[in-house]
Amino acid sequence: MRDPYLYEKSQVLKNKLNIRTQEELDEAEADYVVYRLKDLAMNPMPGEYNTEHLLKMHHYIFQDLYEWAGEPRIIAIYKEEDVLGGMSVEYSDSFDITKDIHFILSDMRQKPWKDMDRKRASEEFCSSLARLWKVHPFREGNTRTTITFCCQYADEIGLRINRELFEKNSRYVRTALVAYNAYFTDGSDFSKKEYLERIVYDAMAD
Ligand SMILES: Nc1ncnc2c1ncn2[C@@H]1O[C@H](COP(=O)(O)OP(=O)(O)OP(=O)(O)O)[C@@H](O)[C@H]1O
Ligand SMILES: [Mg+2]
Repeated sequence: MRDPYLYEKSQVLKNKLNIRTQEELDEAEADYVVYRLKDLAMNPMPGEYNTEHLLKMHHYIFQDLYEWAGEPRIIAIYKEEDVLGGMSVEYSDSFDITKDIHFILSDMRQKPWKDMDRKRASEEFCSSLARLWKVHPFREGNTRTTITFCCQYADEIGLRINRELFEKNSRYVRTALVAYNAYFTDGSDFSKKEYLERIVYDAMAD
């Protein structure tokens, strides 16, 4: 199937700014998104940390760029990863997105955060974040949205996470999320949790 999110005969995402080259779009995206992320860090978005809240947050962050901001993707996503020898993480089937988010966030909200020490809390945070990221609900912007959402949740429950560490190490974080989620429906499992757990532990104040 042709990707309906792209301009005809192009790999560039259709966008509100009518930008047709990837370099220009990357630049514009970085500017708008950084502004929205800063705003969110100072003014948390109210909500119940449910599916609706996550979709709203994506909409807020990407509203300047994409018509479909805040809407789950309607196509499958496959991204070749060097660290997986060219394979892709098995992202959620597009028909399962809202169901999967609902399940993962219900589980996250029910965890006994208050009873956990820093190590346990960082492991549980990683598990919720990584599972949410593995859904990849949106055509673009999943890493920034899921991290921002989970960090805001962490603030809300008193975990105090240093978000800047994720921004400054965004490459590392993305690779760590891939490594965490390197398990597949055929039963093969190359999952490595330690990379993500290390940076989350470091980002968490005692
Ligand atoms: N937590 C973050 N805060 C600020 N910028 C980030 C963060 N994570 C990634 N970025 C930046 O956003 C850009 C796009 O990153 P990337 O494509 O990995 O994530 P995404 O677009 O949010 O998610 P995906 O492509 O997986 O849907 C990169 O330039 C990266 O440096
Ligand atoms: Mg991206």
